[in-house]
Formats: sequence, C-alpha cells, structure tokens
Amino acid sequence: MSLLFRFTKVLLNHAFKRASIFSSAKRYTSKKESVTKIRYSFNPKSGVISASILLSLFAGYIWARRQKEINKLKKRYESIKATLGGSVNLTDTNGKEFSVGRLLGQWHLIYFGFTHCPDVCPEELEKVGKVVDILYEDPQVPKLIPIFISVDPDRDTPEAVKVYLKDFNPKFIGLTGDKESIGKATKLFRVYYQAHEADEHNEYVVDHTIITYLINPDGEVVDYYMRSSTEQKMVESIKNHIKNYNLIKNKKWFF
Ligand code: NI
Repeated sequence: MSLLFRFTKVLLNHAFKRASIFSSAKRYTSKKESVTKIRYSFNPKSGVISASILLSLFAGYIWARRQKEINKLKKRYESIKATLGGSVNLTDTNGKEFSVGRLLGQWHLIYFGFTHCPDVCPEELEKVGKVVDILYEDPQVPKLIPIFISVDPDRDTPEAVKVYLKDFNPKFIGLTGDKESIGKATKLFRVYYQAHEADEHNEYVVDHTIITYLINPDGEVVDYYMRSSTEQKMVESIKNHIKNYNLIKNKKWFF
C-alpha cells in the first residue's frame, strides 16, 4: 500500500508541476497573477490522466486483496472437506434410495438422531427447522434443505421417520437404512452412536453425537453446529458461508 501512496504523490506532483510551468510562463506577463496561479492552477489534462492511473491502481489493489482473501478461504474449506462427508445410499421416507453423496446444487443441513429420543433430538430438530425458516425469509439466501438421518436402524423405519418429522418442519427430508448403511453414514460424518440395552417393553435410548452439518451445493461439508449453537448464531454462520462460497465461485462481489 505504501508503494501506492508514493506513486500517488509522484502522479500528483506531476500534475501540479505541469501547472506551475504553465503558470510560470505567465509570470513574465503578469507578476501579481502568477502568485495565485502557482498555488492553485492545475493542468486538467494531466490531472485526468493521473486520476485514471490512480483509479486503475486502486482497482488492482482491491482485486489483489480479494484474491488473497479467496485463497485463504479456499484453504480453510479444503481442510474441513478432507476429513468429513462422502457417499452413502440411504432410504428416504417414501422407501426410495437416497444418496447422501449426491447432495448437489443446494445447501443442506444434516442432523443425526433417532425418533424415540426423549428430549435432545426434538429440541435440535426444532432449532434446525427454525433456522431453515428464518433463512427462507431472506430473498438473498438460497433455499436450504434440512435432512434428518436416523441412528436407530432397528426401530426407525421410513414410515416411522415420516410420522415423526411431521411434528417438525415439513421441509425435512428423513433418511434411514439398515445397520450397515447407517454405520457407514455415521462413520463418514464421524458421528458416534450406541444403543443401550432394551427393557422388557423393548424401550431403549441411543447415545449419539449431537451435531448438525452444513453442506454446500458441491456436496462438501463446510461447517458443523453443536447443541450450544443458538438459532441466531447458526443463521449468521450459514449466511457467512454462503457469502464466502459466492466469493470463491466469483458469483458475487458482495452479499
Ligand atoms: Ni437424540
């Protein structure tokens, strides 16, 4: 930046120097006039040239700074992408195969839980549903799709998940599967889950990681939210990630 300042000075000097040469020629004809002319006169042609050079220099500086910021962001996202996510086939609430690896073209939030969860899952699902609704209200933000993935393959049939999610946001996509595919899905997202011993009524709880992942339109994990993340914090964070995504993809200069 200091180089830009120095160059600005040189350019301004140039513009004003020309002005003083111009006025000094006049000095011989009118001495009184020359005093004011030397101080205030300014060569418009040279000034315009200087201004255009300065403007392009400034634009270049802004562009370089933006590129630097983009590269920094890219690096940050690469590291998250390298450790999380991947492809796995699950079953949606209509019994159809659904590939988590192909969440492309839209922003998604993925939450792992189970329909018999006494309190944590309902709270988290309500929160995620609200976040999605808040973001839907913002015309600047692309539509976000919430996804629920079950960690209870024995009890959470597609039908059970469908009925359960009706109590929350209708935008939710519910996914379940057999032990193997759910095991694979949780591994890809580093979600821990462990079912407890069932009682005589076949009632049991499943311990599980309480986490919500944010997936970008390229199907990459860009962030995750815990139980402590408030609605407001999630909304702010998601908006910020969308802004960064657009910046990296050169879709928009400003959000
Ligand atoms: Ni739960």
